[in-house]
Amino acid sequence: MKKIDSLRTIGLLIIYAVGLMSFGSCSGDEEKDEEIFELSPPVVNTATNVTMSSFLATWSKVPGADHYEVDVALDEDFSEFLNGYEAIQERSVELNVKFLEANTIYYVRVRTSIDEELSVNSNVITATTESEPGPEPPEPTTPLKEAAGFNVGNIVQASRLSGQYQTILSSEFDQITAEYEMKMNIMYPSEGNYDYSKGDAIVDFAVDNGLEVHGHALVWHNATPSWVENFSGTDAEFEIMVEDFVKTTVERYKGKVRSWDVVNEAFQDGGSSPLRTSVFQQKMGDDFMAKCFQWAREADPDLLLFYNDYNMIYDATKLQSVLDMVDDFQDRGIPIDGVGFQMHISYNSPSKSQMAAAAKKITDRGLLLHFAELDVRANPDNSMSSLTVQREEEQATKVREVVEVYNAIPEANKFALTIWGVKDNDSWLMDFWGHIDWPLLWDSNFELKKAHTGFLEGLE
Ligand code: XIL
Repeated sequence: MKKIDSLRTIGLLIIYAVGLMSFGSCSGDEEKDEEIFELSPPVVNTATNVTMSSFLATWSKVPGADHYEVDVALDEDFSEFLNGYEAIQERSVELNVKFLEANTIYYVRVRTSIDEELSVNSNVITATTESEPGPEPPEPTTPLKEAAGFNVGNIVQASRLSGQYQTILSSEFDQITAEYEMKMNIMYPSEGNYDYSKGDAIVDFAVDNGLEVHGHALVWHNATPSWVENFSGTDAEFEIMVEDFVKTTVERYKGKVRSWDVVNEAFQDGGSSPLRTSVFQQKMGDDFMAKCFQWAREADPDLLLFYNDYNMIYDATKLQSVLDMVDDFQDRGIPIDGVGFQMHISYNSPSKSQMAAAAKKITDRGLLLHFAELDVRANPDNSMSSLTVQREEEQATKVREVVEVYNAIPEANKFALTIWGVKDNDSWLMDFWGHIDWPLLWDSNFELKKAHTGFLEGLE
C-alpha cells in the first residue's frame, strides 16, 4: 500500500473497501496491494492547441475514475469561474476550453470522481490565449522610382545629405531638387561673388548617388538677393548681370543638372494684369522671361527648360496666362521644354478631373509636364492637432489621384513627379501657414505613411 503522507489528505482519501476487505491489513502481499485504488486527483498537463479563443486541457488518467470534474477560472483562487466551466464533468482525459477572450490568463484544475466521491483538486495550470493580431504590418513596399515609369523626385538641403535622408532619397527617388540652395539669393549673394558651395554639395551628392538633378530656380521674385532688388546700375547693366548669372550657373552644372526652372512664379493670381511686378519685369521689360530662357539654352543646348508656377489647376486665368506665354514662345521660336505645376494641394482638393483638365492643356502643346512640389495639406483649416487615421487615408487617396492623373498623361509628355519634402515636420508649409500639418509621405520619425502606399496605388 502506498504511504499516506499527510493528515490533510486522510479524510479525502477513500480506499476501496473491496481492496481492503479482500486483502486485509495482514496480507503483506505486495502484488495484491497494487490493486488498491486511491481517490487521487489527476496531474494536469501544460495546455496545448492554444489559440486566441481556445486551448486544450489534458490530464493523466486515474485508474478507476468514472469521470473528472474540471474547473476553469479567471483567477488563481478560483473565485471567479469562467462562465459554464465550473465542475464540468468529463469522462475522457481532455477538455477543449472554448469561446475565450484573446490574450487572457485562464486557470485550470481537475478532480477525480469515483462513485460520486471526489478527490482533492489537482495541480493548477494556466493557459494564456493568444493576442489579437495588431494592426496589419506595413505592406512590403516598392521604392517609388521602381514602380513609376517616370522620374520621381524630392528635395534636399545641403545639411541633409547623409543618414536617413540619404537612404530614402537614394532608394526611393531618382531625381532631386535643392529646396532653396540653388536659388539666386543663395548662389549670388553679393555683386560679382557667386557662391555655389551648397549647390555643388547637392549636385555632387546627386552624382554620387545616381540621382538626376532638377535645378530650381534661376529667376524667382521671392528668392532675389537684396542687392539685385536694389540694383544700383542701369537697366542695361541689370540685364547683363542677369545674363551672366543665368549662363554662369547653367554652365557650372552642365551635364549634371538635366533641367532648370528658368523662371518661377512670374504670373499673378487671377486678375487682369497677368505679369507679376518684379525687379526683373521692371528692369528688363515684359519679355524678360524669353531672354532668360534663351540664355539658358545658349549656355547648355541639352538642358530642359521649364516654367514653374502654383495654382494653375485652381486658377483658370493664371493657367491661361501661362498658356499664352507658351504659345507666344512657340510662335517666336523661344525655347521652352516644359511647364511645372507646383502641386501644393489639399487632401480634399483639387479633383482628379480638374488636375487632368489642366494637365491636358500643357500636354496638348507638346510640352513636358512636371508635377512639381507635391505636398498635400491634411489640416488646411487647422482643425486638428494630430493626424487622424481617416484624414491620413483621405490624404493617401489624394496622392493616389495625383499619381493616377500624372501616370495617365502621354508618355512623351512625362518628365517627373516631385515631392516637396521627405518627412512631415520638414515641410515648409508649417512656417508658411503658421500651424501644424502632415503633408508628406514619411512621418516625423521617417516612418512611411499611407500616402506612400497611395502613391504606389496610383501606378497600378
Ligand atoms: C520654399 C522652400 O521650401 C523653403 O525652404 C524656402 O524657405 C522658401 O521656398 N514655391 C516654390 C518653392 O517654388 O521654391 C518654395 O520652396 C515653395 C513654394
